Amino acid sequence: MMQIINIGIDIEEVARIARLKKAALARVFTETELAYSLPKKNAAQHLAARFAAKEAIFKALPFDGVALKKIEIVKDKTGKPLAILHDARAKDIGLKISLSHTRKYAAAFAVSYRICRLKKCKK
Ligand SMILES: CC(C)(COP(=O)(O)OP(=O)(O)OC[C@H]1O[C@@H](n2cnc3c(N)ncnc32)[C@H](O)[C@@H]1OP(=O)(O)O)[C@@H](O)C(=O)NCCC(=O)NCCS
Repeated sequence: MMQIINIGIDIEEVARIARLKKAALARVFTETELAYSLPKKNAAQHLAARFAAKEAIFKALPFDGVALKKIEIVKDKTGKPLAILHDARAKDIGLKISLSHTRKYAAAFAVSYRICRLKKCKK
């Protein structure tokens, strides 16, 4: 069973992400995210979408203080984005995300949900 906890949304300017230097990128994005995005022709769009996803997830989570790099966006084999939260507090929390980007803007939407054990969710 699952119970929705919260939702989050974010929009980013692609140009803002395009201005980030290598060191700043390495502080925010994981190696997997950089390896996916940087070889692409429109790398800043893909990075901006991932930045937006991290911020959307941050808004959807039931606790604060998660570093952006601890939120990782990966892909399944169909190309669908998936989120992994590298935080002990996320043990029973699931995330669903959706990304979209154009030349100027990238947007992401996130839903967090509790994975309930023993068939019942907490009230
Ligand atoms: C996957 C698809 C929906 C992406 O839509 P788009 O308008 O081209 O691009 P968007 O900017 O809105 O979305 C891109 C993001 O979609 C996500 N995405 C890709 N495949 C996905 C899938 N199977 N399911 C969910 N999300 C997916 C990715 O996160 C991608 O960004 P990323 O590469 O940076 O991770 C689109 O390419 C597609 O396959 N559409 C199917 C319908 C179709 O063929 N229409 C054309 C008819 S003329």
